[in-house]
Amino acid sequence: MKALELDAIACPTGLVLRPMLESDLPQVLAIERDAHFTPWGEQAFLDAMSTGDVLPIVLDGNEIAGYGVLKVLWREAELLNLSVAKSWRRRGVGRFLVAELLQSASRYNTPQVFLEVRESNVGAQTLYRQMGFEIVGARKAYYACPGGSRENAWVMRWQEEGNKHAA
Ligand SMILES: CC(C)(COP(=O)(O)OP(=O)(O)OC[C@H]1O[C@@H](n2cnc3c(N)ncnc32)[C@H](O)[C@@H]1OP(=O)(O)O)[C@@H](O)C(=O)NCCC(=O)NCCS
Repeated sequence: MKALELDAIACPTGLVLRPMLESDLPQVLAIERDAHFTPWGEQAFLDAMSTGDVLPIVLDGNEIAGYGVLKVLWREAELLNLSVAKSWRRRGVGRFLVAELLQSASRYNTPQVFLEVRESNVGAQTLYRQMGFEIVGARKAYYACPGGSRENAWVMRWQEEGNKHAA
């Protein structure tokens, strides 16, 4: 997906974008627990904030609709977290956050972004594919599941237009 197209993905009407703050964490942790079987804890978010990761959140007034975490590495970045509150799903928040994170990656001169996603998480995979990610690998038994079993992950990659044959 071209940068120009990412620019065109607007914040859903009435919502506001800003970086995550420490004071957001109680609400973020509640969304996190509701969204993931192995949610991030407070320390993971504090570490992400203190190491310069990109943490956009989208709000409706004081209510957090969703957030993401991008770790910027050398010439590549990892999309580490993307979570939308249940009451805000299927309203374009996830799409907007991914567009924001990819534009951040481009600004940091990291033309490739990787992520891992559960094999069963077809909704997230659909969103990522729409945003230009493609499957480039797999990780066997990567995620814990209820009941003690494990689930495979797909590794997906996005490449900025014009850098598709780099690396
Ligand atoms: C995955 C997630 C971030 C999507 O957020 P969202 O705000 O609901 O996504 P959007 O509304 O922007 O969806 C954009 C498109 O992605 C696809 N999509 C999103 N969720 C989907 C689902 N559950 N099933 C099928 N397609 C889905 C659709 O094509 C959708 O467009 P449409 O609503 O016009 O059909 C959200 O469901 C979530 O937080 N899930 C729990 C945490 C999670 O799985 N995070 C990703 C971990 S890798």
